[in-house]
Amino acid sequence: MKTLEHIDFNNKKALIRVDFNVPLDADFNVTDTSRIDAAKPTILKVLEDGGAAVLMSHLGRPKGKVNPDMSLGHIVDTVSDIIGVQVKFVSDCIGQEVQEAVSGLQMGEVLLLENLRYHEEETTGDESFAKALSENGDIYVNDAFGTAHRAHASTTVVAQFFPNQKCFGYLLAKEIESIAKVMETGEKPVTAILGGAKVSSKITIIENILDKVDHLVVGGGMTYTFVKAKGGSVGDSICEDDKMELALTILKQAEEKGVQVHLPVDVLAADDFSNDANTQIVAVDQIQDGWQGLDAGPQTLENFKSVILQSKTILWNGPVGVFEMENFAKGTIALGHFIDEATQNGAFSLVGGGDSVAAVKQFGFLD
Ligand code: 3PG
Repeated sequence: MKTLEHIDFNNKKALIRVDFNVPLDADFNVTDTSRIDAAKPTILKVLEDGGAAVLMSHLGRPKGKVNPDMSLGHIVDTVSDIIGVQVKFVSDCIGQEVQEAVSGLQMGEVLLLENLRYHEEETTGDESFAKALSENGDIYVNDAFGTAHRAHASTTVVAQFFPNQKCFGYLLAKEIESIAKVMETGEKPVTAILGGAKVSSKITIIENILDKVDHLVVGGGMTYTFVKAKGGSVGDSICEDDKMELALTILKQAEEKGVQVHLPVDVLAADDFSNDANTQIVAVDQIQDGWQGLDAGPQTLENFKSVILQSKTILWNGPVGVFEMENFAKGTIALGHFIDEATQNGAFSLVGGGDSVAAVKQFGFLD
């Protein structure tokens, strides 16, 4: 893996793909600076080497049209405060005005380009658009971890225009190392906890981890697809009927590979998808019509706790309940505590996925 350490940026302009897709309030203030904070070490390394940084990012999904609400101009002051350099801004990411701004950029300076997604060529991965982007720097650095799953012009396509002069930024490199700690070098027992609403959105992860893990803990909405596929009654719980075969295949493959699968045994069921609904604890396979499982039950959490506390490597992706509603957040919070305890006892834990990261932040487990 080629990282920043392998490159001297002295007198060079680094074109850095960052993920500054940050949340803004109604007055366009940044409400969570984590992504900007995370890119700071990479930007500072370039500047400290004696180089200049040209930053490019998307913000929201403007779908190829200029949308002032999604202008990266809104975040210039915040980025300047965080990196300690007054950031310059240009109102496009390609074209003459941009070329002039880039060529006038002095070493030690930072230039932020306007939202890449004002051009639909960004998301279609257009080669000529990527080539035009590539003209904004001497060296390409990809540090946009939050966008690493998108094969867009500014991520995968632009890189080909820098045959040798390209590398990962610190953030992306660190994330890749963390994934490797789970997928390649993780101390056993390795446990993956998968939650979230749908089996369909987790199938790629499941297929990739079955060869790596000793325990697969399943929770959240996708539980009910597994339970119904095994013949249980799930009432009105979320269920992907067309993925029941897939669920059975996963269980069979897990068994063949010696992976122990831990499904919930009880749930907190509600008579409405509402925080104020009536609730009851029921067996996971005996949910009546008119009721839906919205959180993990107490016996389930006990079972999950015992698996997690004996694990040395833990991957968590997806909440085990509808944590956005306070009355159905307890399972996800408890899970966070179990992982916290295991981590304090020496396990390596990695949390991924938008909802899980939001839960980790919301409930104070970030450290
Ligand atoms: C994100 O916030 O998930 C990333 O910035 C990617 O954004 P996208 O889902 O709009 O591609």
